[in-house]
Amino acid sequence: MEICMISGQCPGPCVFPPTFDAHRQLKLRQFCCCYSSDGKTHSSPVASRMFIFGVGFVGKFFAAELKMEGWDISGTCTSVSKKKELQHMGLETFLFNAEDHDLNCLPRLQDTSHLLISIPPISGLGDPLLGLYRDLLRSKLSNGKLQWLSYLSTTSVYGDTGGAWVDENCPVKASSESAKARLVAEEGWLELGRALGVPAYVFRLGGIYGPGRSAVDTIIKQQTLTKNQRNRESTKFTSRVHVADICQVLKACINKPSLSGGVYNVVDDDPTPRVEVFEFAREMLKEKWPGEMAKSLPSPVTDFIHKKDDYKGEKRVSNALMKRELGIKLLHPTYRSGLRSIAESLHNPFP
Ligand SMILES: NC(=O)c1ccc[n+]([C@@H]2O[C@H](COP(=O)([O-])OP(=O)(O)OC[C@H]3O[C@@H](n4cnc5c(N)ncnc54)[C@H](OP(=O)(O)O)[C@@H]3O)[C@@H](O)[C@H]2O)c1
Repeated sequence: MEICMISGQCPGPCVFPPTFDAHRQLKLRQFCCCYSSDGKTHSSPVASRMFIFGVGFVGKFFAAELKMEGWDISGTCTSVSKKKELQHMGLETFLFNAEDHDLNCLPRLQDTSHLLISIPPISGLGDPLLGLYRDLLRSKLSNGKLQWLSYLSTTSVYGDTGGAWVDENCPVKASSESAKARLVAEEGWLELGRALGVPAYVFRLGGIYGPGRSAVDTIIKQQTLTKNQRNRESTKFTSRVHVADICQVLKACINKPSLSGGVYNVVDDDPTPRVEVFEFAREMLKEKWPGEMAKSLPSPVTDFIHKKDDYKGEKRVSNALMKRELGIKLLHPTYRSGLRSIAESLHNPFP
């Protein structure tokens, strides 16, 4: 069996939309090191084709980074306006709502070398791709082209440990329906990888933030918190991760695949309560734009009372495995550096 490794590229800041010509240039320089059964290493150009089921927040950043490195990217979204946006980034985009469309409307799927699944489970159905198309997926992906399969999951599968640290070897205690559905989805994608003879990975992500989606953005836009955010507001430990670090982890995994695949937590070093994160963001913005912040509304986190009964899923999630096995050095080990980088990239955002 041959293991193909794409030559490493330094993780850099997310920039999009990337330009198409730059990608073509880079693509020509992209090589694959093949370790064959004779033990010798050969280098040859490789077609690196990523297909992303659900080009959402993470998918968009990841696609932009891979585009910069010359990959061909295809992916799905559910709306026409999003499709246009993704096409503008140079992605081959397909309108695909798992419940309404047929997998046969995705012609690029069987040509893909790398597959990322970012569509969350649906209430009552579970993972929509596995629930509706498991056999079709298996037959479309079994032509030997697929080398890497990854599923984006969540740390909520660990349930409540009363604040104790959890790693990938800890028993999962998913209590909510959505966390249970995640676990079933995780096992389903790992199982599909085994059936196809392809290394499959599950990445359990903490709360995702990045440019456009962060405490900084919430305060600037004077948005109120969603119900989920409010529920998480009362927790003492909230794991989070900057989207640039998620991209870094995914790329490290592509560059250094293991034969057996695996499960990795993807979180930063600092499981801090959200209240603290919002306070930090607010103080930082006040310092940067004192006049504008004085005009803005009170911090959204002070708008409601924390109830002890709301405490849910207290746990601290360890990231030691991704550091050890994938060689990850976090770009943003704490929310402080992540939020500072977001604020620094903004010109005066106040209308
Ligand atoms: N947000 C967090 O803090 C967090 C934390 C841990 C894990 N996660 C999970 O990690 C993954 C990536 O997160 P994210 O924030 O990048 O997610 P996201 O922005 O919500 O993206 C999800 C993608 O799935 C697509 N999708 C949703 N329902 C679909 C359906 N029925 N059929 C087809 N496509 C569907 C969406 O389509 P459109 O692009 O058209 O909307 C979108 O492209 C998701 O599974 C998410 O649930 C999120």
